[in-house]
This record gives sequence, structure tokens and C-alpha cells, in this order.
Amino acid sequence: MEKRFNKMKQVYLESYGCQMNLADSELVMGVLAKAGYFPSDSPQSADVILVNTCAVREHAEEKVLGRIAELNRFKLKKPELVLGVLGCMAKHLGKVIAERAPYVDLVVSPDGYRRLPELIGQSGDKPYLDLRLDRTELYEEIDPVRKEGVNAWVTIMRGCDKFCTFCIVPYVRGRERCVPPDEILRQVRNLAEEGYKEVTFLGQTVNAYRYNGTDFADLLHLVSGVEGIERIRFTSPHPSDFSEKDIETIANLKKVCNHLHLPVQSGSDKVLKRMRRTYTSGEYLDLVGLIRDKIPDVGLTTDIIVGFCGETEEDFQATLALVRKVRYDSAFMFKYSPRSQTVAYRKFEDDVPEKEKGRRLEELIHIQESISREVNQTWIGKRVEVLVEGESKKDMSQFYGKTDNFKTVVFPRNGEKPGDLVEVEVVNSTSHTLLGRRV
Ligand code: SAH
Ligand code: SF4
Ligand code: F3S
Repeated sequence: MEKRFNKMKQVYLESYGCQMNLADSELVMGVLAKAGYFPSDSPQSADVILVNTCAVREHAEEKVLGRIAELNRFKLKKPELVLGVLGCMAKHLGKVIAERAPYVDLVVSPDGYRRLPELIGQSGDKPYLDLRLDRTELYEEIDPVRKEGVNAWVTIMRGCDKFCTFCIVPYVRGRERCVPPDEILRQVRNLAEEGYKEVTFLGQTVNAYRYNGTDFADLLHLVSGVEGIERIRFTSPHPSDFSEKDIETIANLKKVCNHLHLPVQSGSDKVLKRMRRTYTSGEYLDLVGLIRDKIPDVGLTTDIIVGFCGETEEDFQATLALVRKVRYDSAFMFKYSPRSQTVAYRKFEDDVPEKEKGRRLEELIHIQESISREVNQTWIGKRVEVLVEGESKKDMSQFYGKTDNFKTVVFPRNGEKPGDLVEVEVVNSTSHTLLGRRV
């Protein structure tokens, strides 16, 4: 055991799930870097393999269980290798993982990452489960090891208090708690010094941010003052947590991007109520109206679930009607997946047949895709400011970047570099991308 600490250890970390989880992976690397570990690009050369997991839908969990079994091959070749499962699925399925994958050394929930160096050192014959949630853990003073690039994620709140009836997040990430503004400012100032141009604030209900007297709008004001940071984004706001002050602030602060990811989940009031989303479709549409009034050209994206318990054809049609009314720039669309522990799992029947969920999803995607295509076409001929992110994966002679309102723009490169803000004229478009040329 002792020997483990004497030479430099390499960690291979694979991540699944939402941006909050990916940001947690950067935090995990921060914790481990402090303890003398180095990141490794491949599982072959690693001494520690960690998988940071998602529990939001069953499919995500199955995929990861398969992947863990695959990664065990490296452990069979190198028995001293430590294999750990972190994140939301670790918390959700802790004991199940220990039974189904007994070769795993560690199972650690999202609040246990500070203890990782110690837990890695301790691993024994049986999986060690650290599944505690901690109402106070905010990982202050730990500097995440971030991916290089133009944008950096900054977690400003952890957990969620909303308990939407379909959602596992509050059970696996615990109660809502906010990072103090001073700590957020410290991180953003460091990021500006390191050369990042854009920060994205993360939280499950990010606009519910509140710390003593500082609310979300105040925080945006504070961070807007940091020199070197050109753009500020955030995700995901909850429709019920917006104040007019928030919207005015987003409209008025130049650095705060004009894009809102505003998950609606359903267009039917009956379904929204059963989901415990705390707004009606009318209230949601009023909010969209107010936002579009104050922030012209705002980019709007959303999340939608089809086939939730009790969703009739009529309810589904209400979702389609809402989608047609709002005309989102793009949407993430999902089939409802029952999650143990949640209210929906315990109290409602998952009564929409799988095949019908599939049909509804397909129809919704089809409609949203054509809306996305039409919305993008309206940008042809316009000039947009693009923050250059890097080389296009498909074509090295092209660069890609984002507009303020979150459109991806691809254009022939011409001497610019990642991090530059450039003017581009849109000359063509698809449902996902704008094609442009420098002006
Ligand atoms: N905090 C965000 C979303 C978090 S989870 C919000 O409040 O909207 C991301 C998305 O996954 C959700 O918006 C929802 O559309 C989807 N999702 C969550 N639980 C799900 C489930 N049980 N089945 C299918 N999709 C789900
Ligand atoms: Fe889940 Fe609802 Fe919280 Fe979003 S607001 S994380 S959907 S419980
Ligand atoms: Fe995110 Fe999945 Fe956890 S969506 S919060 S990684 S359950």
C-alpha cells in the first residue's frame, strides 16, 4: 500500500452527463492534482481509472455499466489498478454497482470528491462505498483543472430543491446551496488571467442563485466587471425563478449573452402540474414574451420530455402547439424514463407504451428540426459577432465559434485565432449551423 504514494500516479477520467458533471470532473482532477496525481489520456497507462456518471435516464446508466465492465479488462491485466465510479449514478445505484460490478474499488457520490486521494489509497478487496451527501460541500478553494480553450465552466450552485416529480437530480446531488460571490469572483479573475474569454455559470436552477444579499442579477453585475472576460453565459435557468430584474440585467449588460436555455418539459398544464414544474404553459409563454420584448434576437433553447405518466395524445398536441408558438432555436428532447426514488416512480404509472413514446419523440424532433432550419435561414445575409473557438472538426481550413445568442458559425479561417471576436456575414445555414464569411 505504502508504495502507491511514492511514485507519480496517473489518472484516467471518463465523464458522462450534463455540464455540471463535466465541471465536477475538472474539480476531481483539481483535487487529485493537489495530491500529486497526473492526468492520463488513456486507460492503458493509468494507475487509477475513474468514471464520472449520470443517472438522469435509464439508458445513460446502462451505457455506463457496460463501459465499467469494459474498463475492468485493464484491471485484469494490472491488478493494482484502482477502478472507481463517481457521480450521480454512483449515488443512485451505489449498492447495485457493488453487486453487479464487484471488481470496482470505489463508488463515490458527488459530495465525496475531497476524500478521493484517501479513498484511492484505501481500496481493498470489496468495493468501498462513500455515498454521503453533504449539505455544505461547495468545493471552495479547490481550483478545477479545466480543459484548455476559450470557455470555462464555473459552478455557482450545487444540488436542487425543486423536486420535479420525474427527476433524480435532487436525490443524487442533494439540496440547493450557493457558492459565495467572493469565491466566484476569485475564480473568474483567475480565469481571465489564464486567458479564458468566456465563463459559463452552472447550476440546476442557476437563476435561483442567492447568497446573503446577492441575487443572480447582482452576481452578473459583479462578474461583468472582470476585465478580460468578454462573454458570460449560464445554464440552466428555471422558468419560475426569473425576476424582471434578472431579465433587465441580461438585456442591459453587454457581456451577458443573449441566450437562454429555458427548459419547458411539456406544453400541457395537466402534465406540467403532475411534473410539479410550478408554472403553467400560459405563464411560460408570458415569460417568453417578456424576454423577447426586452432582449430582441435572444436565442431560446429548451428541454422537453414526451410520454410522461398520464400524457394523452391531447397533452402531447399541447406540447407541439407550444413548440410551434415559441419557435425555439433548438431543443433537447427525451422519452420519459422512470427513475427509482422519484415521486413519479413511486406514485404514477408509466403508462405510455414505449412504442408510443418513440412515435411522439420522432414527431416532435421532426417539427423542431424544421423550425430550427427556418429560424437559421432568417440569419442569412446578417452580420454576427463570433467568438472563435477553434478548428472545425470536419474541415481544417474552417474555424468555428459561437454568436452571442448561441448559434454555431463555421467560416473559412483567415489569420484569426481562438479567443478572437470577429465579424462574420452569414451566407448559408442548416438546422444546426450557420455558414459564414469574414467581413
Ligand atoms: N435543471 C434542469 C434540467 C436538469 S436534467 C431543469 O430544471 O430543467 C436535464 C433534462 O433531462 C431535463 O430538463 C429533462 O428534460 C430531462 N430529464 C430529467 N429527468 C428525466 C427523466 N426521468 N426522463 C426523461 N428525461 C428526463
Ligand atoms: Fe431536476 Fe427539476 Fe431540479 Fe431541474 S429543477 S434538476 S428538472 S428537479
Ligand atoms: Fe447531470 Fe446526469 Fe447528474 S444530467 S446532474 S450528470 S444525473
